[in-house]
Amino acid sequence: MNKKLFCIANWKMYLNTDESIDFIGKLSTLELNQAIDVVICPSFISLFPLANYNFASNISLGSQNVSSFNKGAYTGEISIDMIENLRCKWTIIGHSERRSLLNEKELEISKKFKIVMNSSISPILCVGESHEERKAGTTEDVLTKQINSAFNEIDFTLYNNKTILIAYEPVWSIGTGIAADIDTITDNINLIKNIIKNYNLNNCNLYILYGGSVNENNAKSILSNNNLDGFLIGSASLDPNVFASIINQI
Ligand code: PGA
Repeated sequence: MNKKLFCIANWKMYLNTDESIDFIGKLSTLELNQAIDVVICPSFISLFPLANYNFASNISLGSQNVSSFNKGAYTGEISIDMIENLRCKWTIIGHSERRSLLNEKELEISKKFKIVMNSSISPILCVGESHEERKAGTTEDVLTKQINSAFNEIDFTLYNNKTILIAYEPVWSIGTGIAADIDTITDNINLIKNIIKNYNLNNCNLYILYGGSVNENNAKSILSNNNLDGFLIGSASLDPNVFASIINQI
């Protein structure tokens, strides 16, 4: 598996389409480290104009979500085919905001994971414990359950060179401005590595990211102290200069 470093922007429900186009225009004027795989995840509706943008070869598009249904009478849903059609290469699945605020359950997340595995898109599966779960000492159980319910039904040996990203995102750190400390990240990344040892991922390229209050002041030290493959970034990805500065530091 090639060593890669990812910087993924999760714009959540922040930038409208004009702002998204403006961001991309500004980002394209900045010098970016070409060795980093940069993924931009705008809102669904902003994917359409951005799909026609002439990105540098290290920049690609992802969606923030995808339907757990393939096609059909599901009003308001966006299918895997629709995001493939808009040149997405990635989709975020199981973000904690969807799990906690939009009531997404493991079953739905596992259906999405399966659909994405059987498409040209690569999944970015988000996992992470809440503050209460951390306090109760159940982080390992939570991560095990979240990963197993997505991975359980997949025969990974049937895939050839599929790229899969797992983003470890402690819920208590997301959007708080306080990133998890290095030891916590290291311990939980190691837990994740242990959990996925139960699967034969030899035919796949699996990368592990960290997300949760990553910014231009902490990115470098988080990365240099951990065996990580990059970041999933929320707030600090909303400003092209800040996002570029993270890309260029790591
Ligand atoms: P944050 O969000 O960087 O604003 O903490 C990360 C995420 O939700 O993926």
